[in-house]
Amino acid sequence: MKSPAYGKPKACVIGWPVAHSRSPLIHRFWLERLKIEGSYELAAVAPAGFPAFVRDLARQGFAGANVTLPHKQTAFELCDVTTTTAACLKVVNTLWIEAGKLCGDNTDAAAFVDALDQDAPGWDANSRTAVVIGAGGAARAIVYALKLRGVRRIFLINRTKERAAELASDFGASIEVMDFADLPVVLAGANLFVNTTSLGMPGQPPLAIDLAPLPPEAVVSDIVYVPLETALIRAAKARGLRAVSGVGMLLHQAVPGFERWFGMKPCVTPELRSLVEADIGAAV
Ligand code: ATR
Repeated sequence: MKSPAYGKPKACVIGWPVAHSRSPLIHRFWLERLKIEGSYELAAVAPAGFPAFVRDLARQGFAGANVTLPHKQTAFELCDVTTTTAACLKVVNTLWIEAGKLCGDNTDAAAFVDALDQDAPGWDANSRTAVVIGAGGAARAIVYALKLRGVRRIFLINRTKERAAELASDFGASIEVMDFADLPVVLAGANLFVNTTSLGMPGQPPLAIDLAPLPPEAVVSDIVYVPLETALIRAAKARGLRAVSGVGMLLHQAVPGFERWFGMKPCVTPELRSLVEADIGAAV
């Protein structure tokens, strides 16, 4: 266990704002189920105070922390040691202290494929081609994860094409930048379609895409989880396609941190999912 030698292990989520975070709900559920006498707190820390807060984590008795907006890049810069994934993405969402050093990981990438494995088993049986919408931080983590998993061809489409081109140039020839106008053609040969943008969230327009050209075995994934069922997920289900909402990724990204801080690997169970979905449903 990587918890401090004294007292009960504790961790927190650091953000600004942070009140909306579902991380306490998730980690406290696991602490209770696994009968671990630890705690998980909210830490509202403004950008100016973030470096000092993080350097002081161990002294405050924290085994580590989750990091959310707007601190994920600064967290990476502050780390003494990072995982290969975090080093590649230059973004950290999970911190822990090991041998006095601040360590960081990006657990979003693996969480994306873990969610697909759980919610759409066999999704990569013919994992030759994916279509990814967006070119922000989330898209970067997902492209990284898909490449690692062996997806051979990734079509990347973004409103700002230069941003997609920049992402593609960082990942090599298997990423092809396309236009929204190319969608009917690229969808026809795709096994996986992913929305990584914020389109579909409250206050944002929906991602209005005709899914008709997708083959019947294709899986549609949306990283948005507020609302629980986006127009994209509804359209995928209406077409009889397997649809994976963003809740699974939210739950799975929490697993590695919990294991490092509290010493046991927790499971993403239907009970936990229902709890978190009820909380999201109540807030919308
Ligand atoms: P994150 O790090 O969460 O991925 P981000 O870096 O702000 O967030 O990226 C948001 C993504 O959503 C981008 O791909 C963005 O497109 P641009 O690169 O053109 O900005 C996309 N996005 C956000 N609002 C959009 C909209 N109204 N229409 C199309 N794409 C949108």
